[in-house]
Amino acid sequence: SLVYVLNGPNLNLLGKRQPEIYGSETLDDVEADCRKVAAEHGISIRFHQSNREYEIIDWIHEARESAAGIVINPAAFTHTSVAILDALNTFDAPIIEVHISNIHKREAFRHHSYVSGVASGVIAGFGTQGYQLAIQRLAFLIKKAAA
Ligand code: DQA
Repeated sequence: SLVYVLNGPNLNLLGKRQPEIYGSETLDDVEADCRKVAAEHGISIRFHQSNREYEIIDWIHEARESAAGIVINPAAFTHTSVAILDALNTFDAPIIEVHISNIHKREAFRHHSYVSGVASGVIAGFGTQGYQLAIQRLAFLIKKAAA
């Protein structure tokens, strides 16, 4: 099966950006970790990052055609984007929302997520490990759906 891993704005700077909050791993490291865990479960992944809302929406539309699940860290769009929520609502397979930091421990404007209402699960505050946990969970859900 195929899983999309989608990352929102500023995550291209992961490792350099506020490392006290987001850690020192880069997005390339995260991608390598994701591919490793996915391979262990016979899953292939498409891994993307964009600072542009429409590109994330287009990848969600692409995922509709082929993907068995989506892992998404919408970054700041989490708190602003009805358009990403609407796109995710057109996707029929499981969605896992990931945040590297614990958004509930931070500023009040980060406490609300438009995406959580369509996610089958949410991971926050597990650092970049959250992505690997999300893929493990999707692997489980994909197997369960096939059984
Ligand atoms: C984030 C949390 C968001 O509030 C923030 O805008 C980000 C990253 C996280 O992974 O912790 O860019 O999604």
